[in-house]
Amino acid sequence: MTTPDSYDLLFKIVLVGDSGVGKSNLFSRFHKNEFSLESGTTLGVEFATKTMIIENATLKAQIWDTCGQEQFRALTKTYYKKAVGALIVYDITKKQTFDDINKWYQDIKENAEEEVVLMLVGNKADLKHLREVETQQAAEFAKTKNMAFIETSALDSTNVETAFQLIVQQIYTSFQKTKNPSQYQTKAIGEGESIVLKENNKTKESRFKKLNCCKQQ
Ligand code: GTP
Ligand code: MG
Repeated sequence: MTTPDSYDLLFKIVLVGDSGVGKSNLFSRFHKNEFSLESGTTLGVEFATKTMIIENATLKAQIWDTCGQEQFRALTKTYYKKAVGALIVYDITKKQTFDDINKWYQDIKENAEEEVVLMLVGNKADLKHLREVETQQAAEFAKTKNMAFIETSALDSTNVETAFQLIVQQIYTSFQKTKNPSQYQTKAIGEGESIVLKENNKTKESRFKKLNCCKQQ
């Protein structure tokens, strides 16, 4: 029987990157089509699940938005466990956030699943006049690290849906090829306690939960 909660595969994707690059806005743009100019820094880890149908398979992505502040880095890393996808985000108007990608890449490689699918995301593409990181430079860097690359704008929605669709598609492709399918299946954590904020339609749902991983010091 098909229920709104049935799926073929449930897997974990994390959003990482420096504080202020726009992770939370990419997350909220994707799962509830919302953007905030004054979103505060994330002082915890939040997740939402979204169901997508790819090649007749019902895939449920559990997307985790993490805090980018350096002081919480050690703690945040513990949430990369079991992730099979990671969006490593930088701000195209802040070169430093691009230079820091190596650090996030390393953290993911050390803590997520071995076959984690990576995507480099240059956010705030709407701020063209303030650009500090050239598209070509980022694309070349992504290639050297075997990551997909995309530029997005959480503000005007450019490529947000596409970025998530591409990574889910890529995860599914590598799931189909893998000899170790169990690493892809994650647990439906706290599903029973989740607060349902919005249900867009029958195939898309968004659940949201705050976990007190990081407390302001
Ligand atoms: P931490 O939670 O501290 O790690 O930061 P974050 O990566 O979650 O950043 P957040 O989404 O809170 O965004 C930081 C600021 O950038 C906010 O003022 C957002 O409104 C703004 N912002 C996010 N995405 C975009 C974008 O695509 N374009 C523009 N112009 N501003 C953006
Ligand atoms: Mg945030």
